[in-house]
Amino acid sequence: MEPVIVIHGGAWAIPDHLAECSKTGVKNAAKCGYSVLVNGGNSMQAVESAVRILEDDRSFDAGHGAVLNANGDVELDALIMDGKNLAAGTVSCIKNISNPVTYARLVLEKTSHSMLTGKGADAYAEKLNIARVSRDELVTEYAIQEWEQYHKYKQSVTNLFNTEKAHDTVGAVAIDSEGNVSCATSTGGITNKMVGRVGDSPILGCGGYADNHTGAVSTTGHGESIMKVTLARLVLFYMEQGDTPKAAADQALEYMLHRVHGRGGLVAVSKNGQWAARFTTKRMAWASIQNGILTYGLNPEEKFQECLDNFSCR
Ligand code: GLY
Repeated sequence: MEPVIVIHGGAWAIPDHLAECSKTGVKNAAKCGYSVLVNGGNSMQAVESAVRILEDDRSFDAGHGAVLNANGDVELDALIMDGKNLAAGTVSCIKNISNPVTYARLVLEKTSHSMLTGKGADAYAEKLNIARVSRDELVTEYAIQEWEQYHKYKQSVTNLFNTEKAHDTVGAVAIDSEGNVSCATSTGGITNKMVGRVGDSPILGCGGYADNHTGAVSTTGHGESIMKVTLARLVLFYMEQGDTPKAAADQALEYMLHRVHGRGGLVAVSKNGQWAARFTTKRMAWASIQNGILTYGLNPEEKFQECLDNFSCR
């Protein structure tokens, strides 16, 4: 099986000043994940490595660069899932951690549970000696400006998402040379969310899902809408009925738009290595690598290609 990785950096109305760094960020993450795959790593290692790159990149709403909740604090959600055995690790409402995706993987590997949240998750992170960072280290000037705008104009989060003006989420899907698929998703959620609000990203079947029998999906967009339609699992359902990843993604996103007026995007890979990156927001930065060809885009129906001859993390 030819390995494939597909990355997204969040579906939203990415402003022009973040367009180039968003494209560079998803390309870096794709190269890193692909280097893991071509050097004998499995799809779990690839999606984790790729999402860590995005969590460390301040252009994205995950880890460093996360948006702020109603109290101006950072609460992070993440998910990772292994399509080989349906094992999953997820964390929600965690604080002071740079790479929630790695913590989610530790929940998968070291506990008998699928999700840890809030204070319990904080306590377990201490026990595992996971490095803690201050809130200020995670917060960007842009996140503060976004938060101030919400407060100034008292805008509702839902309305903003429907007009495509919300910073959002990162994710990756991959298939390795053994045919194993995985997904990972990580987010700071949505600006001005209530303290304790958990979105779709750490919820299995919503923010992501992976099953070797079909494929893997990582989603982005308005979390409450995504949860209502269980977006990741809906895409896989359409793929199980025979749709390509692109047709399944379009059908599921269209359903979410018309049924609950929610916008978003996703990346998907099938068990045969077909892939798609689709969205109903103004923009979504995405990148994919298959057979040494890097494909990427930002605007609807836009697609650029580059031939790569070496792969490395940055
Ligand atoms: N899609 C991320 C969130 O709504 O939290």
